[in-house]
Amino acid sequence: MDKIVIEGGRPLHGTVKTSGAKNAALPLLAATLLTGGVHRLRNIPHLRDIRTTKTLLYHLGATFEEGDPLSIHTETVDDYEVPYDLVKTMRASVLVLGPLVARFKRARVSLPGGCAIGARPINFHLSGLERLGVNIELKHGYVEASAQKLVGNHIYFDIPTVTGTANIMMAAVLAEGQTVIENGAREPEVVELASCLTNMGGSIQGAGTSVITIEGVSELQPLDHTIMPDRIEVATYLTAAGITRGSITVRPCIPEHVEAVIHKLEQAGMRFEIGDDYITCSAGETIHNIDVETNPYPGFPTDMQAQIMAMMCLADGQSIIIEKIFENRFMHVSELKRMGADISIEGNTAIVRGRSKLQGAPVMATDLRASASLVLAGLAAEGVTEVSRVYHLDRGYERLEEKLSGVGAKIERVKG
Ligand code: EPZ
Repeated sequence: MDKIVIEGGRPLHGTVKTSGAKNAALPLLAATLLTGGVHRLRNIPHLRDIRTTKTLLYHLGATFEEGDPLSIHTETVDDYEVPYDLVKTMRASVLVLGPLVARFKRARVSLPGGCAIGARPINFHLSGLERLGVNIELKHGYVEASAQKLVGNHIYFDIPTVTGTANIMMAAVLAEGQTVIENGAREPEVVELASCLTNMGGSIQGAGTSVITIEGVSELQPLDHTIMPDRIEVATYLTAAGITRGSITVRPCIPEHVEAVIHKLEQAGMRFEIGDDYITCSAGETIHNIDVETNPYPGFPTDMQAQIMAMMCLADGQSIIIEKIFENRFMHVSELKRMGADISIEGNTAIVRGRSKLQGAPVMATDLRASASLVLAGLAAEGVTEVSRVYHLDRGYERLEEKLSGVGAKIERVKG
């Protein structure tokens, strides 16, 4: 297994180019199943989860013409079974459930297991589909879904589930009649999916608010879309500049997508110049301690919790970080402590007592954003940090070591 080796202590300076948004690309690839034809997607990031999703679509009968745009041919899709060995490597495979049921009126998708950050059930996905007239049975670890037809309905989510909202939108767009989703997710990736479904011939109102209304249509046209920049990648690089006391520009980006993170980094002492499609940031004289609570969008994103914690390990006081989305998203803490961080956990709350320095050390990645956190800590630590199990990183960050080297980091990937 590859590892990433970092020699810390070098402030970052320069410009980082953002890739397309992973969590927008995944539902959009699933949406191609809604209709036959040739779909075109531009600015797809080159990530492990994207390759996994393409393998899944290929397994269902789709074919591809590589390039930018990526062309996806789905008129040959003739299967509706998604095996466990595909789902176990990527939970987001569940995103094909809604489209398959909408198009074929049946689907057999393996129940995703838990993952490092939590149990991650899909009960709201399934109850939402049942509200649309889908019969759901759980057999031998698989979801067996079938329907005579899908009929629009009123659906309320106890929790604004991101992929749950995406799944139900994709099923409802081909249902008969109107569907209203209450307490739907407001994430930009959901808004992008709604916009694409509308451009495909669907009728969706309210995306970006918690009430989304979908008027079912009888058929859709292939999608043709350019994926937006990845807001979590943008926020990760802004935090990398802060923790290394540097100054970088990140482009392209949509600044409003990272407002909550900018607000917290400003509290921590960083200064920002916000352009139309770029952000230039610079570190302050010191890193001020801050309190962070993760919430659904537009709140502070859980996908940035590990990264901001790494930065707070070097703050000039105590920070309180509360993780309100996932029940086990502190796996990075024990590894950060091996680098000299002073952190204690009480339930879903991390108390981070800032130190003057971190020491480089061999550490192990446990999940995608935890591994980003360890890379950030390594960039600021004294000495050498080796991050193992970097396949976690490769799920969500395109060419991370290349982009960081490009702004002055001493970082390399060692093939293992
Ligand atoms: C999406 O996961 C993202 N993944 C995650 O990003 C992100 O952390 C998460 O949203 C929250 O923003 C993709 O978009 C592919 P949820 P998702 O359903 O949709 C509970 C990354 O690092 N829940 O919004 O799976 C759930 O357990 C990844 O890029 C239920 O109980 O998250 C969690 O506690 C990690 N039942 C909370 O809701 C359900 O049916 C939010 O989960 C669904 C969710």
